[in-house]
Amino acid sequence: MASANQLKLLVKNFILRDDRKFLTIVLQIAAHEAKIGHANLASELRDLVEKGKLSLNHKGEDSFPRVHSSSTAQINHSSNDLFTISHPTVSLNEIILKKSVREKVERFLDENKNSKKIRSYGLAPRRHVLLYGPPGTGKTLTASVVANELHFPLFTVRMDSLITKYMGETSVKLRSIFDYISHNRGVYLFDEFDSIGSRRTMENDVGEIRRVLNTFLQLMDEHSSDSLIISATNHKDILDSALYRRFDDVIEYDLPEKENLIELIKTKFNSFKIDISDWAELLAIANGLSFSEVSKSCDDAIKLAIITNKKTLQQLDLEKILAERKSYK
Ligand SMILES: Nc1ncnc2c1ncn2[C@@H]1O[C@H](COP(=O)(O)OP(=O)(O)OP(=O)(O)O)[C@@H](O)[C@H]1O
Ligand SMILES: [Mg+2]
Repeated sequence: MASANQLKLLVKNFILRDDRKFLTIVLQIAAHEAKIGHANLASELRDLVEKGKLSLNHKGEDSFPRVHSSSTAQINHSSNDLFTISHPTVSLNEIILKKSVREKVERFLDENKNSKKIRSYGLAPRRHVLLYGPPGTGKTLTASVVANELHFPLFTVRMDSLITKYMGETSVKLRSIFDYISHNRGVYLFDEFDSIGSRRTMENDVGEIRRVLNTFLQLMDEHSSDSLIISATNHKDILDSALYRRFDDVIEYDLPEKENLIELIKTKFNSFKIDISDWAELLAIANGLSFSEVSKSCDDAIKLAIITNKKTLQQLDLEKILAERKSYK
């Protein structure tokens, strides 16, 4: 239990509306509870503090990065919003993955669900993963699933704000991001990661981008908190080989296979009827399209049916839309 002195300080700082001090005292109580063996209470208190920090909008000088709204976060005194924050609700059974990918995603989740147990043996769960593959295959969706399954907020790093023409500034921002990551448990998605991960020796490389990458590598090495870092890219080829050993896992995404397409189409037509008489023909037309493209085509077909007052779609209606989408490629 909190000492009488800590209780008094809590009340005092509540009255003074000094959120930072208030939370610091709660953390001290959590540390004390952990020391006397109340690990669950300590962890619950720390979780509450983390949630509290997220919802606070601190003013003036303080050690917690600022969160300005539920959708954007600001770091330290920087005027640029470097993250968007969301609280995804999509679950693991809503994403269609081939077996080998699903196993890797599940392993990543399992290790993090058991992180306390793993850490008690002096080991760390997998925390850094790289996802790569063509557009529309579920990389961003995976980051949402991971955040939801672990009940973490999802912070998507805004590359457009991070990468500025002044690379020195970019390195400084990267450091602030990693500082924030260490203090605020969450899933951090570096989308379009190739913009910082491109090979250090590439001909068009300027020294500056190399420095940014070196900073990133160093920060990844130093990062030891329970936050998770997911990097995603379409261009695995241009990624620096030095990056690979920094990731605990590298997961390759691909265009849907036949059975994936069937699952996707069946799911999309869960609540709207479609008559499919020849799966082979339908799959031949959808072949080569991404999950995202097929998903959108199904939505388009349903919208068309709604507008034209059709109760049931015919296979041909969907095929026409799929063929149209394919013709854009
Ligand atoms: N594997 C999947 N299972 C189910 N739906 C998917 C899958 N992949 C993509 N989708 C659908 O397509 C949408 C876009 O996918 P997502 O943003 O995850 O693609 P991405 O791989 O991140 O693409 P990009 O490389 O362009 O960022 C998802 O919101 C979802 O509706
Ligand atoms: Mg994406």
